[in-house]
Order: sequence, then structure tokens, then C-alpha cells
Amino acid sequence: MQQAETAELFAINSLHAPLGAEIVGADLSRPQGSKQIQAFRDALDVYGVLCFRDQTLTEQQQIAFTEQWGPLEDFPEENKTVAASTVYNVANVSAQGEHLPETDHRVIFQRVNAQWHTDSSYRYVPAYASLLYGIEVMPEDALGGRTGFSNMVLAYEALPENLKARIEPLHMVHSYEHGRRMFASLPPLSNYEKNAVPPVSHPLVRVHPDGRRSLFITANAGNEISGMPLDEGQALHRELVEHVSRPEFCYFHKWKKGDLVVWDNRTTLHKAEVYDMARYRRVFRRTTLAGEGPVLGPYSTAVVSRAKSSHAK
Ligand SMILES: [Fe+2]
Repeated sequence: MQQAETAELFAINSLHAPLGAEIVGADLSRPQGSKQIQAFRDALDVYGVLCFRDQTLTEQQQIAFTEQWGPLEDFPEENKTVAASTVYNVANVSAQGEHLPETDHRVIFQRVNAQWHTDSSYRYVPAYASLLYGIEVMPEDALGGRTGFSNMVLAYEALPENLKARIEPLHMVHSYEHGRRMFASLPPLSNYEKNAVPPVSHPLVRVHPDGRRSLFITANAGNEISGMPLDEGQALHRELVEHVSRPEFCYFHKWKKGDLVVWDNRTTLHKAEVYDMARYRRVFRRTTLAGEGPVLGPYSTAVVSRAKSSHAK
């Protein structure tokens, strides 16, 4: 395995997959230096997914580590297995330690995440990165339960040229409510939630500050493409979701207790692989780094003016 020493305290090992690296030797329960945080940010830009092994983090320590990267995002739900509003317990176990039945809303919510998505795409400014910590994981030999990741820079680059041209000006409609409609037994949105997260649209082609392009779609927050007939847009959406599922873009993470996995929501998609929720308990804790601005596409003013000024030079 290729290994690059970035500081005395930790090493970054590429997973030699389409995305992902493992970081060993870092103790995230302690304050990190600004150089370390910058090294983690740079590594996330390169690898899209970072797995910090063997961590022991209280809720406060996870929040503190996340805050060192930047501002945290709040979650819009009113009722979930939660403590602080910036922490989401991705668990089939209640805060009191009770193994929840599969019919519990808090468990069904997690099945919405079995579709490819990027976190909080339903916001005007979607999340930068998510940090998911494995507190209770399944036994080594249990089937399923991995988290899948797909590299959206590679997925965009691999599109046929005619499809790249077709999606260049298009936007997808993202709605938090879409996930609720996927399971009839989930409660409708409250007025509080509706006001907190109204539907938004984002370009299908995301242009990053460094000029890279990536696909920006989700399968859990909608399937409508603005400006197209509904059936035609949904067919295009299906085609793109099939495309991002191709193994050459993907890495599936098998969880070990103490893993803290960080992913870049701007350039990757992820999904929760199904597992036997009635048989196995599982507890993950998530914190989320807020995005730094709206999703820019090829025709966004900032991108067009950047292109014009670089032409003029
Ligand atoms: Fe997610």
C-alpha cells in the first residue's frame, strides 16, 4: 500500500479504489493543529473519502473536531434519535439503548438513505462534508451494512460527449419532502420542516473553484429535471443514477468499531447498503460541515465571469 507521511502524527494510505484513503495514527479526541486540519482538507479534496481508524470520541469530542474544520450544519427534522441539533444518530437503537423495530419512523428514515445521494442536497447551500462515527457496528461476518461511495468527478468524465452536452444547461429539483414520500408510513412534513427546507434546484454539472467538474444528482431527493417534460426528465435521471452505480466509480466501506469516515458531499455520492435491521443493532453518530456557497454550474454567473477573465489574460 502506498504511504505518504504528511506529519509526524499520522499517515494517509490510498485505498487504491476509485476514491478513498485510510488515515492511521491520528487521535481526533485531542485538538488538532491548523496544519493538520489543512492536511485533512487537502486529503479530502484528493480522495473524496477519508477513514480515520481506531478513534474513541464522545459526542462533544466529535463536535469539537468538526468545529475545527468549519461551521456545522443543523438537521431539519423535529423528531429523531438525537441529542444536540448538530448531531444525527444514524441508529436502529434509541437514545435510551432500546433496539427499535423496523416500523419505527427513525429506522425507516434510514432506508431513504439506501438510494445514492449527497447530504442535504435539498438545501440552497448543501453540505460540504459529513463525518460518520461507528459506535456499534455489525459483526465481521454479517452481510450488508456497508456504506457505498461513488466518485462524481470520474462519473462525469466518463459520460459520453453527447450526454455531457445534453446535461450541461440542466438543473435537478431537490426536495427534502421527496424522501418522505418514498415510504407511505412516514409522517408528512410539519410546517416547521416545510419552512426550513423548501424545494431547490441545482445544476446537474457542478463546477468547482479549481475548475473540476462533477455530476451533482441524488436519488433520494427527487427525480425531476427542470425545463423538461416529466417523463423525459425522469428517464434521464434514471440513466444517470444507473451510470453512477458502475463499479469503476465506487468503493464500499465495511465498518469497524471506532472508524470515523469523512466524505466530501460536493464530489461524491453515498448510500447505505441494506442489512438485517431486526437482527443487528447499529449505532453511528453523524456531524455535518456546512457548505461554503451555492452549487455552481457551467452557466452560473461566477463561473462564466471566471472563464471570461481567464480568456482575457
Ligand atoms: Fe447520507
